Amino acid sequence: MRSVEWHDGVLRLIDQRRLPHEMVILECETPEAVAEAIRTMAVRGAPAIGAAAAFGMALAALRSPASDRAALLRDLEAAARLLKASRPTAVNLFWAVDRMLRRAADEGLEDPQAVREALVAEAIRIAEEDVETNRRMGQYGATLIRDGDTILHHCNTGALATVDYGTALGVIRTAHEQGKRIHVLVDETRPRLQGARLTAWELLQLGIPFTVIADGAAGYFMRKGKVNIVLVGADRIAANGDVANKVGTYTLAVLAREHGIPFYVVAPTSTIDPNTPNGDAIPIEERDEREVLEIEGVPIAPRGARAANPAFDVTPARYITGIITEKGILYPPFDLHIRRALGLEQED
Ligand code: MRU
Repeated sequence: MRSVEWHDGVLRLIDQRRLPHEMVILECETPEAVAEAIRTMAVRGAPAIGAAAAFGMALAALRSPASDRAALLRDLEAAARLLKASRPTAVNLFWAVDRMLRRAADEGLEDPQAVREALVAEAIRIAEEDVETNRRMGQYGATLIRDGDTILHHCNTGALATVDYGTALGVIRTAHEQGKRIHVLVDETRPRLQGARLTAWELLQLGIPFTVIADGAAGYFMRKGKVNIVLVGADRIAANGDVANKVGTYTLAVLAREHGIPFYVVAPTSTIDPNTPNGDAIPIEERDEREVLEIEGVPIAPRGARAANPAFDVTPARYITGIITEKGILYPPFDLHIRRALGLEQED
């Protein structure tokens, strides 16, 4: 099953909080339920929450009792505010909700029923496009992977973090499907352990050799010459190429630079936010301190200890070798190549 799936007017999600221990399917029938699933990270990963939010908008249209178009659009605006408030950093969420609002506002849709049908179709399109986009990034990215490479990977960027196939993990998957013998060093990714819990679970099923490492061990392996390339995903890429991704990414990028290791970000162009000029302008989510102080509900720090829990960090563009998108691999100067990839500036 896909991580985000539409089934007879119900959104079905793989509950990522329960993996790898159990496979539980969460059914969402209202935009409120979708917003809650995103907030609590039952569904997570920038492209997956974008697609889930799109279906949240479709559910809002289907559940709205509005009998005229203006009233339906008002209900959709309310659902958009609710969904956008669920998590602040991944721009795919905002991108998908705004795309759904634009579709709803299409003058050609005359009555509420036409809007409802168009929104369901648009959400399905967003989900299908995501899978296609990931496969294309996989093809571009795999050209950078050589037979015998060891790849360092952070967080989870696989089928679970997307609708299917994955971004950085999609590149790894394509290289493996091409017959390249690769090994993945899987950062455990504290505090929520997306690497140890989710990436390891996916790699095991795909038969791709891997080793889970503590986040703090990344420098050790780089210094030993054991890492050929670092591949990570992104939650928001600013107009200048600065990248917000799971906390710990910045550390890896600086370490990679120190050791002369190529550092690539793999993300669809829907993760690029041309309205955010640089990384300082990206809102960074602060999550509950219990995520740091406990593991699966078990306290690991003394009672009374306090924690800070930024969920993401920003890697300045100067540390990034290239950004692998569905339109090709972007290299510095990122501001120019991002504008061209988004069609905001013509090629010479
Ligand atoms: O907090 P999460 O688990 O939603 O964070 C996910 C990441 O940071 C991923 O690297 C990013 O969304 C890209 S996933 C294809």
